[in-house]
Amino acid sequence: MTSLAVVPGDGIGPEVTREALRVLETIAPAYDLTFTTTEYDLGARRYHASGETLPDAVLEEIRGHDAILLGAVGDPSVPSGVLERGLLLRLRFELDHYVNLRPSKLFTGVPSPLRDPGEIDFVVVREGTEGPYVGNGGALRVGTPHEIATEVSVNTAFGVERVVRDAFARAAARPRKKLTLVHKNNVLVHAGHLWSRTVDRVAQEFPDIAVDYLHVDAATIFLATDPARFDVVVTDNLFGDIITDLAAAITGGIGLAASGNVNPDHTAPSMFEPVHGSAPDIAGQSKADPTAAILSTVLLLDHLGHADAAHDVQQAAEADIAERGSAPRRTEEVGEAIAARVAEGVRVG
Ligand code: NAD
Ligand code: IPM
Ligand code: MN
Repeated sequence: MTSLAVVPGDGIGPEVTREALRVLETIAPAYDLTFTTTEYDLGARRYHASGETLPDAVLEEIRGHDAILLGAVGDPSVPSGVLERGLLLRLRFELDHYVNLRPSKLFTGVPSPLRDPGEIDFVVVREGTEGPYVGNGGALRVGTPHEIATEVSVNTAFGVERVVRDAFARAAARPRKKLTLVHKNNVLVHAGHLWSRTVDRVAQEFPDIAVDYLHVDAATIFLATDPARFDVVVTDNLFGDIITDLAAAITGGIGLAASGNVNPDHTAPSMFEPVHGSAPDIAGQSKADPTAAILSTVLLLDHLGHADAAHDVQQAAEADIAERGSAPRRTEEVGEAIAARVAEGVRVG
């Protein structure tokens, strides 16, 4: 019995989460898995009704589950940052999701906007609990011509080392065995040098991993001109956020990009969600592509130790992607098509 906390959230979040759950329910019987789901009404609606973003008691309830499936949070009717920080980042921080795993693969049949993409298959290991995201900063003389605003990036030896170790271990398990640190150590010398020194030190324990370094600005050049050079990328919270939207764009769009907020030590449930947001521009129209949410369940199944089930869902999604063509499909059509392929694969297997 696997207990899932489900946070559909705002905008297209509920639309894509419904399809991800449909696929999980389809794969479950083939592997004798049982998912019990508890849905949490968190996001804009609750905020307007009660002023709450994530009450402590709800956080503690969520903590009791095996994993979390999240859609997206954020709504134009709520001041920017209230739900993003108060709900999403609070979950990532409180549950110690220090590995934000964001794989990027150019699937067969997907047109890349790059003229000559080559083979794209890399994973970004984005630090998830530190950096400028911690909220260390403030503003003085707000609204005056003398306003001063700071957002201090927090980087600890402990926090950097644990994510760097995780990235090396992932690189060691992949055929190309290459790790690229992305930072900006020519300008952000305090944090940047901590990251570089940490990578150099941990590298000594992984002599068969080829280690590379790129400044984040140059990394965006190579993501657009030579993405095949990347295998495992390790980077801080903010750089990882930015380069993974670019990574999604070069691999066929944000509708395909999955992510996991992973607590590798299993001291709290990990959380799986698409890289994209609540897309208010298309919400409520069944236009959202649920593939990213469905591929996030692959990461969820893997994390919970169900590698075979994960593989089946991945195959079903890739088969659908390969054959979908360019005609627009409704959100539920995509979910139904992938679930049907999961069911078919299950019968054949
Ligand atoms: P967004 O990812 O929501 O949307 C960017 C563009 O991509 C939009 O044009 C949107 O229509 C499109 N898009 C996104 N997902 C899609 C899908 N599945 N299928 C088809 N098209 C899709 O980013 P944004 O506009 O910067 O942010 C909107 C809101 O979402 C903000 O409140 C932001 O803070 C929030 N946000 C939340 C998360 C999250 O919950 N993890 C992530 C990013 C942004
Ligand atoms: C993402 C989002 C979040 C982030 C925001 C909404 C807090 O952009 O998951 O990529 O910056 O991590
Ligand atoms: Mn983002």
